[in-house]
Amino acid sequence: MKAFQQHIEKVIQATTHALDLAGYDGVWIYSGHPVNHFLDDMAPAHAINPHFKWWVPVPHVTSSVLHFQPGKKPTVYLHQPADFWHKIVDNSQGDWAAEFDVKVIGHYQDLPDYKQWKNHAWIGSPELHPLAPEDTNPKALLDALHFARIKKTEYELSCLKEANRLAMLGHKAAEQAFRSGASEFEIHMAYLQACEHNEHEMPYGNIVALNENGAVLHYQYQSQERIASGDLKSFLIDAGANHNGYASDITRTYSFQQDAFADMIAMMDVKQQQLCQKAVAGQDYTALHLEAHLAISEVLHEFGVFKCSAADAVSQGLSRTFFPHGLGHYLGLQVHDVSGHVVDEKGTPKPPPTEHPFLRLTDTLRENAVVTIEPGLYFIPMLMQEIAGHKDINWDKVAEFQPYGGIRIEDNIVAKQGGIVNLTR
Ligand code: GLY
Ligand code: MN
Ligand code: MN
Repeated sequence: MKAFQQHIEKVIQATTHALDLAGYDGVWIYSGHPVNHFLDDMAPAHAINPHFKWWVPVPHVTSSVLHFQPGKKPTVYLHQPADFWHKIVDNSQGDWAAEFDVKVIGHYQDLPDYKQWKNHAWIGSPELHPLAPEDTNPKALLDALHFARIKKTEYELSCLKEANRLAMLGHKAAEQAFRSGASEFEIHMAYLQACEHNEHEMPYGNIVALNENGAVLHYQYQSQERIASGDLKSFLIDAGANHNGYASDITRTYSFQQDAFADMIAMMDVKQQQLCQKAVAGQDYTALHLEAHLAISEVLHEFGVFKCSAADAVSQGLSRTFFPHGLGHYLGLQVHDVSGHVVDEKGTPKPPPTEHPFLRLTDTLRENAVVTIEPGLYFIPMLMQEIAGHKDINWDKVAEFQPYGGIRIEDNIVAKQGGIVNLTR
């Protein structure tokens, strides 16, 4: 429990500082509540406001509010309605509660009269906005809080480690299912079963892609069709898990046979591990992304796809056709965690280079920041067409590898002074 206590001490300190910067005396943080589909009385699974999750590690919270004023113990108004339609779990008794003044409320009407407190800000999604627009999600406050979330506490690192452990149970089961000839749908179900998550508990939709579907970066379907072993070539799975609201985000790629694609995966794995080792505190992440382009080009050159040198392929922009996304992003309460394009608590922007618009993290890594390192190379038909006939590409090789889709390998890394911790391996 000490780790959680220390975590809350940091959150209190960071929020006190952020309120000072933004000129507020206190803040309300709303958990959010389920919002029904258009013209319907059903709602999708509720995603809790990450600012609320930063303080309160309770799953399935809705319509609850945290109140913080510097110098005072934070108060949580925890909504537990009298309701015979749903099971109401008493979440107010956990160890976490010792750090808060917890008030269980049975009805929205029991929520406090926010306007009685002067000079407060409100942080929450648009379904409930009791304060003036200028005091609702004020940018200066959010910028400072988002920046403070980059460096993780020991408690947060332990949550991210557990989210990795759970996901790897799923990844092992998924590989086994793939090798036994399962469909994408069956692999997906094996994954969920092994990490004991319901689909709505996953931090993002599983990407479970056989053969050429691996070339679709965010492939969103799971086909129920089993592929005959003679036609089964490759498997790319990008799937995480969730622990106390913290996400893991892991990708693995497999070849069905011991063939050239398997060798290509092995070489990518070596390159990916070298990039991981460089994600230390003080590393410029944009520079590491550019280094990844060279590393991936070396793989493509080695396997005969690039006829020119790797450096030449990078300078011509050819590597961007095969690696069209960024090297990675911050990870934490959100899969693509906040503050990736700023350099300070004031939100001073650092946009990605024009040629790399999808790079989600541009700044220098800070100690205890958690990032993904996810180089990829893909044979995406739409992008291949854009450079069709290019003299420095061996098009026979492209045709050979296209049915395999592509490769992505993704680990979750803690940046340390002079080293890293790989949470995934
Ligand atoms: N799973 C989404 C990503 O890797 O960013
Ligand atoms: Mn991923
Ligand atoms: Mn990722």
